[in-house]
Amino acid sequence: MLNCKILIFIIVSAFHLQIIKADSFVFGHREDAAYQACAQVLSYLALFSTPDSEGLQNFCDPQNQPALGSMAHCIVDNSHPCQVQVAAFLDSCKDYKLTNDTFYKSYENATNYLVSLPVSKDPTLKKTSYPIYTPAGQYQTAFNLNYGSIRTINWSLAFGIVLESYWFLVMLLAAINHWSYYLFPNFVMKLHSPFINSFRANVILSHTDNKHHAQRLKIFKRLEAILPLRFETIILSIWFILVFIFAGVHIYRPAQGFVELSVGNRSGLLMAFTFPVLFLFAGRNNFMQYVTGWPYCRFLIFHRWIARTVFLLLIVHIASKTLTLKAFKAYQAYMHQNFVRWGIVAACSVGLLNVHSFQVFRNTNYEIFVLIHICLASMVVVAGWIHTSYAGCPEFFYTVLAIWAFDRVLRIVRIISFGVQVATVELRSEETLKVTVKRPGYWKPHPGAHAYIHFLKPTCFWQSHPFTLVDSVMEKNTITFYMKVKGGITHGLYKLLLNAPDHREHVRVLVEGPYSQQVPLHAFNNVTFMAGGNGIPGIYYEATDLYQKSKGSKRIKLYWVIRQFKSIDWFYEELEKLSQTDIQTVIYVTQPQLGLDFDIGEPYIRTSNDDESQISHVKAEKNFHKIEVQGKEHPIESRSNSIAASNLKSKLSFIEFREGRPNLQELINFEVDSTSNSIAFATCAHPCMVDDIRLEVIKAIKRDRSKRIELFEEIQEW
Ligand SMILES: Cc1cc2nc3c(=O)[nH]c(=O)nc-3n(C[C@H](O)[C@H](O)[C@H](O)COP(=O)(O)OP(=O)(O)OC[C@H]3O[C@@H](n4cnc5c(N)ncnc54)[C@H](O)[C@@H]3O)c2cc1C
Ligand SMILES: *[C@@H]1O[C@H](CO)[C@@H](O)[C@H](O)[C@H]1NC(C)=O
Ligand SMILES: *[C@@H]1O[C@H](CO)[C@@H](O)[C@H](O)[C@H]1NC(C)=O
Ligand SMILES: *[C@@H]1O[C@H](CO)[C@@H](O)[C@H](O)[C@H]1NC(C)=O
Ligand SMILES: *[C@@H]1O[C@H](CO)[C@@H](O)[C@H](O)[C@H]1NC(C)=O
Repeated sequence: MLNCKILIFIIVSAFHLQIIKADSFVFGHREDAAYQACAQVLSYLALFSTPDSEGLQNFCDPQNQPALGSMAHCIVDNSHPCQVQVAAFLDSCKDYKLTNDTFYKSYENATNYLVSLPVSKDPTLKKTSYPIYTPAGQYQTAFNLNYGSIRTINWSLAFGIVLESYWFLVMLLAAINHWSYYLFPNFVMKLHSPFINSFRANVILSHTDNKHHAQRLKIFKRLEAILPLRFETIILSIWFILVFIFAGVHIYRPAQGFVELSVGNRSGLLMAFTFPVLFLFAGRNNFMQYVTGWPYCRFLIFHRWIARTVFLLLIVHIASKTLTLKAFKAYQAYMHQNFVRWGIVAACSVGLLNVHSFQVFRNTNYEIFVLIHICLASMVVVAGWIHTSYAGCPEFFYTVLAIWAFDRVLRIVRIISFGVQVATVELRSEETLKVTVKRPGYWKPHPGAHAYIHFLKPTCFWQSHPFTLVDSVMEKNTITFYMKVKGGITHGLYKLLLNAPDHREHVRVLVEGPYSQQVPLHAFNNVTFMAGGNGIPGIYYEATDLYQKSKGSKRIKLYWVIRQFKSIDWFYEELEKLSQTDIQTVIYVTQPQLGLDFDIGEPYIRTSNDDESQISHVKAEKNFHKIEVQGKEHPIESRSNSIAASNLKSKLSFIEFREGRPNLQELINFEVDSTSNSIAFATCAHPCMVDDIRLEVIKAIKRDRSKRIELFEEIQEW
């Protein structure tokens, strides 16, 4: 698998180099400006074309003596010395195999026929059979513009390559960081000097605003945003600054209209260079996830911000091209050209993509968001392709299409390799859907993995939702998903199961996965897992897997915070299995007085009014944190001496139960203090809890420089 990924990487990189080598976009040289200027001026003066050669190529054709002779005189008479300019011209005439000799023979012959012409209003009327003299002043003006253009394009290409390389450089650093946990774990564990700790605490691990990362930042009413981590913000800021500078410096075309033209070309080219990265980061099968160890959600954060820079560049592109056309009085004419129309289609799509990708729209209905997103992105690719074909650089879209197709094909391969399976879907503890699916033996999941699941029901078969999976501890070759009931597909299943016997149904499913990288927990001596609510499955899988692999050589602690005793039911079988391990498990029940009327191991029995109470329950879940905070403010007398709860406690006697909300600060300090050399915290919980844990771990890193302290946040949102 590793080899395969590396191979793919090499193929894609090779694909990429093609862009730089492509004929249409090359680094130009000063000497090229000479024959280009000559060709332009001469074409203004007269018509040289023959039926079998056009444009610049006219001048290369030895059969077309008037043209070649004019060119020879223009180059030789205007450049002193002229060897390199002649060589550059001969080089551009490869198709005609033009030699030095033929060139100079034509020069000599043309000397006898050379005529001067005034600038023509319409050169097509003046088909000439004589070589034409190029006025020196006109040549110089044209030369300056061409030379400026070559230099500007040179810089555009260099900047484009830098912009693209920037991301690969950042990812290279990430890869070094990630793989050093595997290659030199002992060395990494020794990295806890004051400087390193302060750098990690203040830059690498910190939230941008010390508060929001897993939780969204509320901007205005329903307007929310995902705030990147501080180092992600820094990476993005550098990117923005680079784009900002690159869009405006090293533009060398001082003539009116040409400045705007160059600015427009620059922004267009920079955009073209960012497109491959933009599409690469959006895909589920982005092989850079494997290289860097970054989670998909980080790539998506970068994807969104790169898309926003593309949008800004687009505005510059449109504005400067409009000014150019106005300056040359060509606006009306160009608006009727096809490539301009397609450019406008692409531009509108990019604009719509940016607006509809706001968090509000993603949250409101994710399925519709995805559908619109794919349609618009396809429009951008098609329209952009046509538009750039005219500009001579469709190669960028070859890369984009290759990346996109690669992702799609691999997704289909993944789905087929899992096959259609019949899943058992159960409703447990009124709140969680437990989905059990047989997996093929060769389909190997790993801890922390998630997969996308399609329920093959007429109403929702096209939807695929990501869920963390657990390789079942009960049965061989079986995976289990635990889905919290929310408002969409999960709610549909919930309603279906309410009426089903035993609240259980068999549903055909497709599974696409497993995705995501494993985090390097193996490198740490002591590992503390902290899960909240439905965050437990992935954490549990990692903890048990780590326990088996370390054969008891590590101290593993597992904290699980839930609201009510009843929640234990849906994960009861798995918790029971913990008795066979040394994993020290602590369960916090924050509202022990709630929902005590349950029976462990028995399917939940439906009572009247269930549907409504469930909906309010689903709503209440969204305010999970708020309820907890209230609970803390008004500690309600514990009624945990209820029969069910004490029954449960005695059955799970190897688990320590604590009632009330955990004090994360005390808990993390306790864990850090009772560790001698290195400790990792892995967490997946409610976003507020995850952000609080991050804050406490950062404080611990600042305070305690005697050991390596690490945080692995495993919650992903997009
Ligand atoms: C990597 C990953 C692992 C996850 N693991 C679990 C898990 O183990 N257990 C669990 O209960 N939940 C998990 N989730 C969350 C789960 O994907 C959503 O709760 C589920 O898709 C909601 O489905 P719905 O139609 O009922 O949601 P809705 O009520 O329609 O939406 C609820 C929220 O879920 C998000 N959402 C909806 N559809 C998708 C989608 N296709 N992809 C991403 N986000 C979506 C939306 O932003 C929305 O805000 C995980 C999410 C991710 C990204
Ligand atoms: C453009 O870049 C190439 C390659 O770096 C260089 O050889 C060439 O001289 C540059 N041309 C100009 C006009 O600066
Ligand atoms: C010399 O130039 C004239 C005018 O361009 C052309 O008609 C003629 O064929 C040329 N002679 C040779 C030998 O190329
Ligand atoms: C091309 O021909 C000219 C004139 O015959 C001569 O001066 C020059 O050195 C030649 N250049 C090359 C590269 O052969
Ligand atoms: C974990 O921490 C405890 C307490 O300091 C220590 O005794 C133990 O050796 C650590 N585990 C390992 C594997 O080092």
